[in-house]
Amino acid sequence: MTTGQAVPDDGSAVHTTADFVVVANRLPVDLERLPDGSTRWKRSPGGLVTALEPILRANRGAWVGWAGVADAELDPIVEDDLVLHSVPLSAQEIADYYEGFSNATLWPLYHDVIVRPEYRREWWNAYVEVNRRFAEAAAHAAAEGATVWVQDYQLQLVPKMLRMLRPDLTIGFFLHIPFPPVELFMQMPWRTEIVEGLLGADLIGFHLPGGAQNFLYLARRLAGHQTSRGTVGVRSKLGVVQVGFRTVRVGAFPISIASGELDEQARSRTVRARAKTIRKELGNPKHVLLGVDRLDYTKGIDVRLDALHELLAEGRVDPADTVMVQLATPSRERVDSYVQMRGEIEMMVSRINGEYAEVGRPVVHYIHRPVPRDELIAFFAAADVMLVTPLRDGMNLVAKEYVACRSDLGGALVLSEFTGAAAELRHAFLCNPHDLENVKDAMEAALTVPREDGRKRMRALRRQVLTHDVDRWARSFLDALSHSGAAGPALITPGENHGPR
Ligand code: ADP
Ligand code: G6P
Repeated sequence: MTTGQAVPDDGSAVHTTADFVVVANRLPVDLERLPDGSTRWKRSPGGLVTALEPILRANRGAWVGWAGVADAELDPIVEDDLVLHSVPLSAQEIADYYEGFSNATLWPLYHDVIVRPEYRREWWNAYVEVNRRFAEAAAHAAAEGATVWVQDYQLQLVPKMLRMLRPDLTIGFFLHIPFPPVELFMQMPWRTEIVEGLLGADLIGFHLPGGAQNFLYLARRLAGHQTSRGTVGVRSKLGVVQVGFRTVRVGAFPISIASGELDEQARSRTVRARAKTIRKELGNPKHVLLGVDRLDYTKGIDVRLDALHELLAEGRVDPADTVMVQLATPSRERVDSYVQMRGEIEMMVSRINGEYAEVGRPVVHYIHRPVPRDELIAFFAAADVMLVTPLRDGMNLVAKEYVACRSDLGGALVLSEFTGAAAELRHAFLCNPHDLENVKDAMEAALTVPREDGRKRMRALRRQVLTHDVDRWARSFLDALSHSGAAGPALITPGENHGPR
């Protein structure tokens, strides 16, 4: 994939256009403003960036997104052949479009209304306005006939807006979070606009066949289009929506991680040494339990703390030989439900420690900061039991990362049935996070699994994760996209061997 130079019609400064453009709410890096007035870039949080960054680097394309702070008017930044186009947002737009409509309306609605979604007209208006700005920025960044891949719930109106601006483009859309059941989606006051916005794409991807089927039903019911169901998930038999003369394809494409790379990193001597040191720093306990999440109410951090608390109270877990580490990246810290949940989780951590810790030996270690990647890998390698207990999660990459880091076949994964990952990771200790006894049993089973059984499970999990990596995900989506709409160029995924261009 190449980038090219284009001279705008007005003859002003030359700008670069790309044959492959990703559009996501966030750039892969966040601009951080330091107290002394200086700035620096840091990695953006979340699974979307983890998954997409390696793909885009291999394609040398462009990434259109927000730099994570208010009013950042930046020129395009070229980094390793990847061109970053920043879309500025004002403080008011961050409040209304990002914190409001994206994260206090869509996020809870799409995650089974764990928290009650708020429907406010001013938030919707900002969502429309900001989606328009992203569409314009994408139109500006894309070369003639380019492929543009729009990402996630924050930008569901972009496909239609972009198609109106640039009918020459091939447009894909992928939703990184669950697509909700029809009866929940129907709550949305602007439900038809959202369905029509998405239908501007040539291909719409979801993690699971259920999400794709829900969407097909809504395209028929709300937008009145003819649909055929296909065998969702099989590329040659994707679902189809007939939008006038255009055919929109709909399917399931479960996302993954760069598992080979992670496997290799986790095998390194430095990571293994650091894993040993971590265990030592924790007091060399018999059992280390680990949670790694953005601090989000969908993740069920409270569920696992509750379960641990009861297991301790019932004497099924011994505080003298067990520790839990919870790494929690701060997230959406000005949204009310997040503020409240943080308070509740911190109270639960201190209650468990108040009841069961000894001086210098807490039972729960809680770190409310992002952890550097190498350190995170060492934590995965150090943990006996990984706790992934979301009430709802589109995929959950952490579960796959843990598995990729366990070439020693050690460790056990406790995994909520309500994650997309559970559809693939059937050899995990699966549990229903709404059933506390079931979570406790799964945790106990993982803590006491006989060695051979544990190794067998981990071997099966690794087979799945190592053969279904993010390259394969991107390739299957982009292949399907190149067979849709205007013929798109063949795209390269990072695993593909290619020389310098
Ligand atoms: P989400 O996208 O909802 O945040 P995922 O589990 O799919 O959830 O992806 C989260 C990504 O963020 C993973 O790559 C994970 O390793 C990373 N991550 C999560 N918590 C932390 C943390 N405390 N420190 C560093 N990285 C983290
Ligand atoms: C999830 C979403 C992403 C989002 C990430 C981090 O992975 O699917 O779109 O970027 O969480 O959330 P944030 O609100 O910090 O961007």
